[in-house]
Amino acid sequence: MSQPTSSRRTLLKTAAIAGGAAILAPAHAIGFSPRAQQLRIGLIGCGGRGTGAAAQALAADSGVVIWAMADAFQDRLDSSLDNLMKSDAKDRVQVAPERQFVGVDEIDRVLPLVDVVLLCSTPSFRPLQLAKAVAAGKHIFCEKPVCVDSVGYRSVMESVKSAREKKLSLVSGFCWRSSSPERAIIGEIHQGRLGDVVGVLATYLSSPLGTRPRQAGWSDFDFQLRNWQHFNWLSGDHLVEQAVHSVDKINWIMGGRHPTKCTAMGSRFCRPDAPEHGDIYDNFTVVYEYEHGPRATLIARQQPNCHNDNTDWINGTKGYAWINGWAPTHWIKDYSGDTMWSYPKDGPTPNMYQVEHDSFFKSIRDGRSINEGEFMADSCLMAIMGRMSAYSGQQVTWDEAVNGSENLTPSSFADPMPVGRVPHPGTNTSTRATS
Ligand SMILES: NC(=O)c1ccc[n+]([C@@H]2O[C@H](COP(=O)([O-])OP(=O)(O)OC[C@H]3O[C@@H](n4cnc5c(N)ncnc54)[C@H](O)[C@@H]3O)[C@@H](O)[C@H]2O)c1
Repeated sequence: MSQPTSSRRTLLKTAAIAGGAAILAPAHAIGFSPRAQQLRIGLIGCGGRGTGAAAQALAADSGVVIWAMADAFQDRLDSSLDNLMKSDAKDRVQVAPERQFVGVDEIDRVLPLVDVVLLCSTPSFRPLQLAKAVAAGKHIFCEKPVCVDSVGYRSVMESVKSAREKKLSLVSGFCWRSSSPERAIIGEIHQGRLGDVVGVLATYLSSPLGTRPRQAGWSDFDFQLRNWQHFNWLSGDHLVEQAVHSVDKINWIMGGRHPTKCTAMGSRFCRPDAPEHGDIYDNFTVVYEYEHGPRATLIARQQPNCHNDNTDWINGTKGYAWINGWAPTHWIKDYSGDTMWSYPKDGPTPNMYQVEHDSFFKSIRDGRSINEGEFMADSCLMAIMGRMSAYSGQQVTWDEAVNGSENLTPSSFADPMPVGRVPHPGTNTSTRATS
């Protein structure tokens, strides 16, 4: 790709755009009727998840047409479009060449053309993209994580408020919220089957994600964006990018209460010391403390050749529960070990990604907007405060995370963009190198 057109200044303008409608809605969107035959979709970020989300949008509603696509890289856009053109719904993939955009700010050219936008790019850009989409009056599917730092969180919360005022649907990519067994067991917990929840232990133990070694002609920005999961400024580290799913389940189980503070630790043992492996840790442990007493502990790692697990273990005053969507396992027992509840073996398990899109498009058609913004943003901030605590070695309060000045966006996207230092807790090192 050519040099990025986005600048730190445009990223910092996020909150201002979210607050004031700087972008005008297109004519067809102004007159948009939820019962209109066709819903034109714009896909921002044409990677694995974006392509999946577009396919789910097509399956959710027979009036959906994939109309415009944007990606930072031509090859990613091309392969996504190729895949969509192989689907059963290929007749509704109508992305003419003049509606294929390459660059990091191309959402600006997509928004005027569409009714609905799927935000599936690299997380660091999401607050600004969300602000623009809300200002343009679009319904939004917004992948997780929605922000990687405090400044991004505050911007997202502005956008969430504005989306509610405009009655826009804003559906999050926290897909476990759309999983039938998770909904059933957490519903049981909320209805008191466990008594009061006194503790949660969650694990997200997985393997490292792939890397792309540098190729001739790539700028530093291209190289980091190609390896975005491994760079803190782009992904928020794997706690924010991946284990945030488990953080979101903690947030869900705790009924959306904010933890007052957290204490975390983490390090980097197993990642090779090569530039494409960036500056992130490979393990975290975070203890969240709640004002009314409970604690929730999250253990996350991305290390090769180790045991993988994705469990939520919930202790209550009357019993304990085990949730594992990978196994899958969903049951509640009393302290004698007798099963009080379990998800039926023949219970429905529809594809959670499809369910979230089905309800998204139904909400648009019915004119009954869904706004999942608060939990979407709060779960991300919980993960961010965990990373802040692990990197610094200090306790971090919810209020410090909300009001912090942390902004991970580099001062420039032009070469050279140094790879950040891996933080050393307790030494007050900056979370990224500055040029
Ligand atoms: N809900 C889930 O279960 C789930 C699963 C996988 C990924 N995700 C999330 O989805 C997002 C995308 O992940 P992925 O696995 O598809 O990654 P990916 O690397 O396959 O795709 C991301 C794409 O975004 C593009 N991109 C980056 N910046 C952009 C910008 N400013 N404008 C347009 N395009 C841009 C990249 O070039 C890339 O093609 C991430 O936030 C990830 O955490 C969620």
